[in-house]
Amino acid sequence: MNKIMVVGGKRLFGEVKIGGSKNAALPVLFAGILTGESCVFENLPRIGDVLLALEILRDLGARIRFLHGGDVVVDYSTVRPVLPPRQLTEAIRGSVYLLGSMLGRFGKAMLAGAGGCDFGSRPIDQHLRGFGLLGAREEREADVLHLFLPQGECLRGTRIALAMPSVGASANLLMAASVAVGMTVIENAAMEPHVLSLVAFLREAGARIDMGRGRRISVLGKERLHGCRFRVIPDMIEAGTYLFAGMATGGEVRLLEVDPSHLGAVLEVLREMGAEIRVGNEDILLKAPERYRNVSVRTGPYPAFPTDLHPQLAALFCIGGRAKGRGEIRETVWQQRFRYTEELVRMGARVGIEEDRATFLPAMLSGTAVRSPDLRGGAALLLAALAASGRSEITNAATVGRGYEHLEQKLRGLGAEVRIFG
Ligand code: EPZ
Repeated sequence: MNKIMVVGGKRLFGEVKIGGSKNAALPVLFAGILTGESCVFENLPRIGDVLLALEILRDLGARIRFLHGGDVVVDYSTVRPVLPPRQLTEAIRGSVYLLGSMLGRFGKAMLAGAGGCDFGSRPIDQHLRGFGLLGAREEREADVLHLFLPQGECLRGTRIALAMPSVGASANLLMAASVAVGMTVIENAAMEPHVLSLVAFLREAGARIDMGRGRRISVLGKERLHGCRFRVIPDMIEAGTYLFAGMATGGEVRLLEVDPSHLGAVLEVLREMGAEIRVGNEDILLKAPERYRNVSVRTGPYPAFPTDLHPQLAALFCIGGRAKGRGEIRETVWQQRFRYTEELVRMGARVGIEEDRATFLPAMLSGTAVRSPDLRGGAALLLAALAASGRSEITNAATVGRGYEHLEQKLRGLGAEVRIFG
């Protein structure tokens, strides 16, 4: 997926089926290593990051089979504790989950870089501090990180208070704690649906995990986990992006196979903006108003408005002829998530940025050539292009393919004039 061409101005109407969640699929795929057996994954999205994760697992020795019905079987019995290829682990952030899973299974883990979207620095100090408290030692050889247990030692349960509710650190420590000796209590854990889905996967594999009050998770370690069957939850960020596409074009979009309970803060913002929303058990209908109100939103850890929908919401705020008033986003998770705004400005957007806050005023957007800076930034450009007049060309589109399955097919199914090349 190299380039996306869009002719803007078409209202989107119809139904779209939401795929499995990228950020839920990555931790469970790597957590499967802990089982040392086969796991069957249903609803695994065929997107760039997941395919890369499978390639990393294959390189480590896992045997992977794609079944006719769409399920994927991963046999982890043949995984070896070796350094996975840097060019693969550097390409996705999810590779950091190799630390918790390999350490738990083999008592050692090695990793050279963990990639993903570039939002400036993406530290993993909370992961490492937690592994240290569980008994692991850490060494670096050039830029290769080694985690290991001292001779004769094992992971031992303990209390770990995270400095912030980090998704990655919570997931990584849950994996290691599941096979530690004794009880681990993780305080200030992330509660994103994809973290809770990892908890469900680990339980399915035999782990004993209790969700406490607030952000506390207790894990009573078990010597062995076992293989299991697991269904990946729907992608709340993909879902939000299609709701926003309906809004951006003054259309009417029904999402199918979605979990509305994951989208509370998003639906609240859309309603405040004037959308009519009807929620079923596994579907959401959005009817966009002709014009909507811009609002003020602050991103934050779940259940707050997700940072991974910030750029797409910003695109809505920019659309002249639909948006009214001043929109504001305060980004509290990633300090450098505003790179997409430079490209929106090339389409005519009016944006002001001050520290962690961006403000937007509606302006008539015109299609042009823009470059996707990262996954969700690229999705924002796509939404702007769908609403802009004329033709847009979005390059570096592989960044978008990392997280959106069957993008061309889904958008065309809703009536968009879009073509994806490469
Ligand atoms: C996950 O990244 C997601 N990635 C991101 O989605 C998402 O934006 C993010 O969670 C927040 O929801 C995956 O799930 C693969 P964090 P992660 O650890 O785990 C700081 C997308 O578009 N922090 O929750 O890397 C960190 O700098 C991607 O799909 C530390 O300081 O995020 C950030 O400010 C992009 N030290 C905040 O915490 C640490 O050790 C949240 O990071 C860990 C994190």
